[in-house]
Amino acid sequence: CIDISTLYKDTGHFTYDVGYGSTASTKSAITYIDGDQGVLLYRGYPIEQLAEKSSFLEVAYLLLNGELPKPTEFAAFENDITHHTMMHESLKDFFKGFHHDAHPMAMLAASVASLSAFYHDDIDVDNAEDRKLAAIRLIAKMPTIAAACYRYSIGWPFRYPRNNLEYVDRFLHMMFEVPSEPLAMSPVAAKALDLLFILHADHEQNASTSTVRLVGSTGANPYASIAAGITALWGPAHGGANEAVLKQLQEIGTPDKVETAVLRAKDKNDNFRLMGFGHRVYKNFDPRAKIIREMCHKVLAELGVNDPLLDVAMKLEEAALKDDYFVERKLYPNVDFYSGIIYKALGIPTEMFTVMFAIARTAGWIAHWIEQHETPGARIGRPRQIYTGHDVRDYVASGKR
Ligand code: ACO
Repeated sequence: CIDISTLYKDTGHFTYDVGYGSTASTKSAITYIDGDQGVLLYRGYPIEQLAEKSSFLEVAYLLLNGELPKPTEFAAFENDITHHTMMHESLKDFFKGFHHDAHPMAMLAASVASLSAFYHDDIDVDNAEDRKLAAIRLIAKMPTIAAACYRYSIGWPFRYPRNNLEYVDRFLHMMFEVPSEPLAMSPVAAKALDLLFILHADHEQNASTSTVRLVGSTGANPYASIAAGITALWGPAHGGANEAVLKQLQEIGTPDKVETAVLRAKDKNDNFRLMGFGHRVYKNFDPRAKIIREMCHKVLAELGVNDPLLDVAMKLEEAALKDDYFVERKLYPNVDFYSGIIYKALGIPTEMFTVMFAIARTAGWIAHWIEQHETPGARIGRPRQIYTGHDVRDYVASGKR
């Protein structure tokens, strides 16, 4: 017999922390953020310096290994990546099962999860060599799978990766027909995309990385863990915001409609939010947004693109930054606010925006997954709850309910 007076009363010593606003779930040596000062470091290196001087592949090496590579180390890493860019031929058949207008993120998540069905023989999560191989495979194959998602969605045949091209060029080549998409194949486009990949490569314990770690804590294989990260990224409050920003800017349409959008965002009876504004950690400015904003103007100028959405975005930023509601709540443009305008200028379709984010974030996700498995004394992630349900009661037979 249960003494109900002892139930529900003693919840032990849990911390009730909605959305984990002040709970550190792990120690990590990969990425540091100071939200008040707008500082972001990968392995100690300021994001501004990496954005200016590094490349995405070098940053991926840094995240994974903790140090910038010497030339020979980088050559070996690039060589490893290049030898794993192909997608298994059978994986192509998966795509035929997807509806023709499926969202690319749905296809990406399913395809990456399915990699565990192709590489199940050598994914011993306790084996360092296997972990490294999984990292190489994921970073190498993500652009190939991502491009396949896009081409399937528009009914084009897949393209094989051209391994004489560099990482970003190879991706653009798989995405677009040459020369029908000259914009996306220009050096300016490749440089801009590489920079966006650097800025998106890692961001400590955000929702998707925490998801990867939570799934990883169960001992799940790397492909299953990264697929979970992709699904978490998809939500509009996280990586899906870049797609949502562009759609919102298009809905607003012209700078004179910005005031109405700002008013709506402040209305507590309306769920409408300004997409691309606000961040859980950055309460002053998002250093990535600062870099992207500058780049956005530069890329559009260099490509000769005159996008009226940029005028809407600038007006929106200006209006929000001087509005008490946004100032008091420290809501500033985040990394996703300007990235969509750049992707659009590069000819990347809107539904692919979050896929682009996922390609880049794979480097961070897998670095965290590896760090988690290298750290002794790890435990399964298992949050508790505060129960708010019914008191104990007796089962009622169906006819008596
Ligand atoms: N527009 C209008 N109001 C907002 C916005 C916004 N974009 N963001 C937050 N607020 C308001 C909230 O309504 C809340 O107001 P209240 O104090 O009156 O209740 C207050 O600001 C705090 O908001 P929270 O939701 O508690 O902040 P949280 O840290 O949990 O959420 C988040 C951060 C998810 C980024 C949020 O600001 C948001 O939804 N932004 C829009 C979506 C977006 O751009 N996401 C991308 C984030 S970056 C990334 O993941 C890569």
